[in-house]
Amino acid sequence: MSKSKVTVVGAGNVGGTTAQRLAERNYADVVLVDIIEGLPQGKALDILESGPVLGFDSNVVGTNGYEETAGSDVVVITSGSPRKPGMSRDDLLKTNQNIVRSVTEEVVKHSPDTILVVVANPLDAMCHVAMETSGFPRERVVGMAGILDTARYRTFIAQELKTSVRDVFALVLGGHGDTMVPLPSMATVGGVSITELLPQDRVEAIVERTRKGGGEIVSLLQSGSAFYAPSAAAAEMVDSILLDQKRILPCAAYLQGEYGINDLFVGVPVKLGASGVEEIVELDLEESELDDLKNSAGAVRELVEVLHA
Ligand code: NAI
Ligand code: 2OP
Repeated sequence: MSKSKVTVVGAGNVGGTTAQRLAERNYADVVLVDIIEGLPQGKALDILESGPVLGFDSNVVGTNGYEETAGSDVVVITSGSPRKPGMSRDDLLKTNQNIVRSVTEEVVKHSPDTILVVVANPLDAMCHVAMETSGFPRERVVGMAGILDTARYRTFIAQELKTSVRDVFALVLGGHGDTMVPLPSMATVGGVSITELLPQDRVEAIVERTRKGGGEIVSLLQSGSAFYAPSAAAAEMVDSILLDQKRILPCAAYLQGEYGINDLFVGVPVKLGASGVEEIVELDLEESELDDLKNSAGAVRELVEVLHA
């Protein structure tokens, strides 16, 4: 049986590690694209040469064009500038709008039936750019952020309670920015709510650290932004789509009335399968949480209005 095909656009930190993680899973051939000559070719060859050691035989190619991407089942768009210290995700808006638009045009020419997984920031706004440029239905454009933000939330909860992250279930909804909504009511450790396990001030501190989780890494690295956890999150989405796992994962999806929000990409739980976003899961949120989600959606809408200005 022939392998699936995944293209990763942007061979930088997130793109390179996403390509590596996917190649190592051994169910898909990987095409890595970048505008910098030699970069995608070099990284692809390096990943390919790890195959004999690690025992995978996915093909991995790097290119500066799009011919090799033809017929991709999934395309992960990581091309864009990362945040620099002191820079908000929103500062990236116009630069990355142009990049994501031109990349999407090329991608859909060669893979008209693909599913787009958007990673470039500001994430929710870039999903709009990808959807508007591609003309794809909402099922086939989905953004990566919620899994990453939730992974940070789970990490901090596990650290606080000195427990395994594997027993922490949690959920972060909303836009991928400072208004994101880590839900204390949905966070449990071994089935017990963190609101029972931790005093309120510790829960609030964890929620705040989660909201600023991307900035924390940027300040530490001083050059570039997070990529190990982001690439793990992007690969989990590709798994769920290409292996038709039908996982329920927090992702940026285009809402049309769900949660009372219209015509906007916002992070919510979705069922990801072979058709892409197969279902948007509507949780029964507490009133204050729903207010926070709508507030976060408002921040996304402001950015989208700038895109269209
Ligand atoms: P990076 O700078 O390491 O890599 C970006 C790559 O995109 C560079 O190699 C660059 O040459 C390439 N690129 C730029 N324009 C291109 C074009 N037109 N076509 C093809 N390639 C192009 O940045 P990094 O760390 O990989 O981050 C990539 C993007 O992902 C950034 O926008 C960053 O903010 C975002 N990001 C989003 C996350 C999320 O949760 N949604 C998490 C982490 C990063
Ligand atoms: C992050 O949250 C930069 O959005 C990226 O790490």
